[in-house]
Amino acid sequence: MNDPLVTAARQARERARATFSHFKVGAAIETADGVVITGCNIENATYGLTVCAERVAMFKAISDGHDSFRRIAIVADTEAPTPPCGPCRQILWEFAGDIDVILANLTEEKGRYRMSALLPLPFDARLLG
Ligand code: THU
Repeated sequence: MNDPLVTAARQARERARATFSHFKVGAAIETADGVVITGCNIENATYGLTVCAERVAMFKAISDGHDSFRRIAIVADTEAPTPPCGPCRQILWEFAGDIDVILANLTEEKGRYRMSALLPLPFDARLLG
């Protein structure tokens, strides 16, 4: 049976603006109280202003006032799992902490990880004193 969080990420992926790479990604974050917030990647003609699906979802959640999270699902149309890029790992760690990360494609789940496994030895606010 499909995890509803993965279904939400697949639906968000359909809204991706991947004009340049044609690589569509969807993400769905679940808050501690069960609210689901989605994101898709949004590219730009300057390329460098592109924002990944994970960060769109995370920033939407933060700006909507959510501050406690359980899981994120990330979906791309790849056979191998598409994991979050380095900057997204940093943002997810700082705002969501050690959440579960579900990687899936359009038809199946490809893996489950903890954020702490994807970002070992993180730099974060604890070190700033
Ligand atoms: N991308 C994401 O949105 N999330 C990932 O986890 C990997 C990469 C986007 C950025 C860019 O729009 C496209 O995928 C190709 O890198």
